[in-house]
Amino acid sequence: MPPSSPGHDEKPILQVGATGLLGGLILNQLLARGKKVRALVRPGRDTAGLPKSVEVVRGDLLDSDSLGKATEGVSAVVTSAIGYSQRKEGDSLRTDREGNRNLIDAAKHAKVPRFVLLSILACDQAPDVPHFWAKKEAEDYLAKQAVPFVSLRPGAFLYAPPGPFGQMMRQGIEHGQVMGMTPEGIRITFIAPSEVARAVALAVDDPRALGKKIDLGSDRPLSGPEFAALIGKVLGRPVTVASAPAGGGPRNDDLIAMFRFFQTGKYIANTRVQAELFGPVPKVEDGAREMLSGLGLLPSK
Ligand SMILES: NC(=O)c1ccc[n+]([C@@H]2O[C@H](COP(=O)([O-])OP(=O)(O)OC[C@H]3O[C@@H](n4cnc5c(N)ncnc54)[C@H](OP(=O)(O)O)[C@@H]3O)[C@@H](O)[C@H]2O)c1
Repeated sequence: MPPSSPGHDEKPILQVGATGLLGGLILNQLLARGKKVRALVRPGRDTAGLPKSVEVVRGDLLDSDSLGKATEGVSAVVTSAIGYSQRKEGDSLRTDREGNRNLIDAAKHAKVPRFVLLSILACDQAPDVPHFWAKKEAEDYLAKQAVPFVSLRPGAFLYAPPGPFGQMMRQGIEHGQVMGMTPEGIRITFIAPSEVARAVALAVDDPRALGKKIDLGSDRPLSGPEFAALIGKVLGRPVTVASAPAGGGPRNDDLIAMFRFFQTGKYIANTRVQAELFGPVPKVEDGAREMLSGLGLLPSK
């Protein structure tokens, strides 16, 4: 039986962040590949949305004692967990820094053969963007602790955010405006989260991926006006660029630093290894369609 067939008697993969947006897509891709999944879920978090076949282990990246049992006997650890998105009161970059270090220490102790980190494109070139730099620090710590790893570094997600931000995006597009993150001539890489999840599920056991930091992107980067034009083309009506939001607060400062970094033109994926390992690089049009369907502006496939 091939290793990815359902029912194969293999060790589970520990997934951290399975209840998140991307995390849910990763979970589905892992299960579709016939992987057994053990999910580390924070105490008190409702798990009714997780498939019954998933083994739930309660724990928290900031509670290192909870990570020993979770990492025991797994074939890989996959983490997309972040505190940066502040889903719970008190969440912060501590999760991205200290939390990831705790998980790496636990993986080392349990001799986990592979650690797949959901990182960020060009994080090592962005010391002024705290949530980018936290990923660079996690990559460095994996190397320092000699934990075998794969770091996947996607560009900006073409996703439909939940809650008020998603609503704002939807209303903006309905009124013919989309947020542009760079001006004419400066491009950034975008990618659909479904494509990221597909790559993660392949990276858990592809021997060619081990030890690599792999950029993930679409077929071409876009400037703000090009992004708006693409959204307009996919929707079949004109869409123009609105400027990126401004404002204070710790997370906003981090966001503003990210927008500033985007202006350097360094947030561009080299998709050569992605293509070699994970197959044809997706078209950015497909990601735009996925985002617009998620926002309810196009019928779902
Ligand atoms: N958005 C982008 O454009 C972009 C670009 C490049 C890379 N990325 C990366 O892609 C990933 C996005 O993942 P996502 O969409 O699934 O994020 P998300 O929706 O914000 O979910 C975060 C997940 O982390 C879990 N978590 C938070 N703190 C934790 C802790 N202390 N211990 C254990 N679990 C904890 C959350 O659990 P609860 O359910 O309990 O809250 C949730 O499952 C991140 O790694 C991000 O850095 C994003």
